[in-house]
Amino acid sequence: MVGIMAFPRTTIGKKVIMALSGVIWVGFLFFHAYGNLKIFYGAAYFNAYAEGLRELGHPILGHEHALWILRVVVVAAFGFHIWAGITLKLRNWDSRSTKYVKNKYLHSDSAALTMIWGGLVILFFVTFHLMDLTLGTPGVNSAFVHGDAYSNVMASFSSGTHVAIYMVALIALAFHLYHGVWSMFQTFGLNNKDWTDLYKGLAWVLALIIPISLALIPLSVMFGIVS
Ligand code: HEM
Repeated sequence: MVGIMAFPRTTIGKKVIMALSGVIWVGFLFFHAYGNLKIFYGAAYFNAYAEGLRELGHPILGHEHALWILRVVVVAAFGFHIWAGITLKLRNWDSRSTKYVKNKYLHSDSAALTMIWGGLVILFFVTFHLMDLTLGTPGVNSAFVHGDAYSNVMASFSSGTHVAIYMVALIALAFHLYHGVWSMFQTFGLNNKDWTDLYKGLAWVLALIIPISLALIPLSVMFGIVS
């Protein structure tokens, strides 16, 4: 019997941590996409939503308190996800006694490579995205105005380079979500061979909803549907 403190160091413990931290991010992204789609209702509605996020839980909670609690949870989940992913991969490489001839990757290896590259793209993207729409770093989004999320989004997507960066990140996110949801199914025992196609279909549906919803925003600004 493995003690509670030793559980995160076991392979299944790390997989459970990956799955649970992944679920926290999927939850965050689902509400992020849902919230950001309010851009189609216009500037006043969108900015009221952004301000509402800061006042969440008010008057029981103070200004931005709930937002900061959520930030701590998603940042912690991000850290645990990366830690569990790296240590799992290192363990996998350590335990492999035979090397592949001609460096040919098996299916699971190509999936793992997709996860690592996709994960790195997402990590770089989140850094860029925070500089772009949360911090307004000069040189990234020089037209940034504190408290005006709507014009910040418009300013960002008036640049073709920004739209391209977001599109690449959202494609990487779709593949990362697909493999992540699929691995999560395996971790939680949803691996009945007869239902593989159903699980794969479900994983694709879950993996595509969020990136497609988010992609509508930069594309709509670029094509002048939202202005
Ligand atoms: C087209 C796609 C996206 C749009 C339009 C968008 C929009 C925004 C906006 C407007 C903010 C600033 C909110 C505010 O401070 O008022 C923000 C913050 C943020 N976004 Fe996104 N986002 C997109 C995609 C993503 C993706 C793919 C991720 C993660 C993989 C992400 C993660 C975050 C995070 C972590 C924050 C900071 C939240 C906070 O601390 O308040 N976003 N996003």
